[in-house]
Amino acid sequence: MTAPLIDPFARAITYLRLSVTDRCDFRCVYCMSENMTFLPKKDLLTLEELDRLCSTFIGLGVRKLRITGGEPLVRRDIMSFFQSMSRHLQSGALDELTLTTNGNQLHRFAAELYAAGVRRINISLDTLDADKFAKITRWGKLQNVLRGIDAALAAGLKVKLNTVALRAFNEDELFDLTAFCAARGMDLTFIEVMPMGDLGEEDRVGQYWALSDLQNQLAGRFTLTELPDRTGGPARYIRLEETGQRIGLITPLTHNFCESCNRVRVTCTGEIYTCLGQEGSADLRGPLRASEGNLVLEQAIRAAIGSKPKGHDFDYSRGDEGGKMSRHMSHTGG
Ligand code: GTP
Ligand code: 5AD
Ligand code: SF4
Repeated sequence: MTAPLIDPFARAITYLRLSVTDRCDFRCVYCMSENMTFLPKKDLLTLEELDRLCSTFIGLGVRKLRITGGEPLVRRDIMSFFQSMSRHLQSGALDELTLTTNGNQLHRFAAELYAAGVRRINISLDTLDADKFAKITRWGKLQNVLRGIDAALAAGLKVKLNTVALRAFNEDELFDLTAFCAARGMDLTFIEVMPMGDLGEEDRVGQYWALSDLQNQLAGRFTLTELPDRTGGPARYIRLEETGQRIGLITPLTHNFCESCNRVRVTCTGEIYTCLGQEGSADLRGPLRASEGNLVLEQAIRAAIGSKPKGHDFDYSRGDEGGKMSRHMSHTGG
């Protein structure tokens, strides 16, 4: 039997986040700068190579595969990749095939995703106000995302909204967002903004809204129950007893969860990042292309995981912009 992927801190790696493109049809201000330079398309791994890469990880014990970007649905022919990956669900090798999307083009793909075995998706949405939405995404149309959400629900997908908590931006929408999700039977996860990428004028420290405070605001209106539920990601969950809905909290700043990390990231050029909050990466494209067999690739994956760091060093109280990373979030898809 193949030995599982275990890192130096005894954490089993069972979750792969694969970024299939660095491009996006939005430019969310906390994620990308206005003038991003994107990779030449010729540098991207082909869908066949991405398939081989994922299949190798699955052979090494990965049970959950999340497709990210940039925006994954802008990659040409991405549905054929989902369709191909669904064989691992059918064989029982994979527990979950899913994606994180901005929802902009979701109405076109929701039914096909369901047909490929996707059952639960995460959609990023930070505001329900069309003007604010256009501002934070730099040009996005809220209506498209709302249409995408409706299409996903109609297709039978379970939907979770991801909302980056931004003090001066969406603090006033906490209860509107909660009600929006309750009405549609959707989970809602709040995320503390992480200091990733050089964003020019953006005031990351000023934007930061600690989820401990957000939770206190929720407690002022609802009875909160901490839940033992886990989805294999970094969120911990609470239930709002009055509505019965589930709220996720992703708190890299106020409550570091690196101790239970189970994931690695691979970019669309085949770089593996074993920690979101550290600069180091290793090349898997060379090993992937080195031979048709998977041995060299497997060795490279094991070597990378063998040096997975303990965790991130983000901390807004430290005075260096929170320990800012030079890499943009869109490079690894969050
Ligand atoms: P579920 O399967 O629903 O639990 O999703 P997920 O939280 O694993 O994935 P998603 O793409 O929705 O990620 C939500 C947020 O969590 C993003 O902002 C990610 O950057 C952040 N996140 C995911 N994994 C990590 C991690 O290992 N470290 C940190 N600091 N943030 C993470
Ligand atoms: N901090 C926290 N979350 C972020 N995301 C993008 N950039 C950041 C950041 N700097 C979120 C997106 C998406 C998820 C993949 O990552 O909103 O929901
Ligand atoms: Fe695009 Fe997602 Fe980054 Fe927004 S957060 S710019 S939707 S990749």
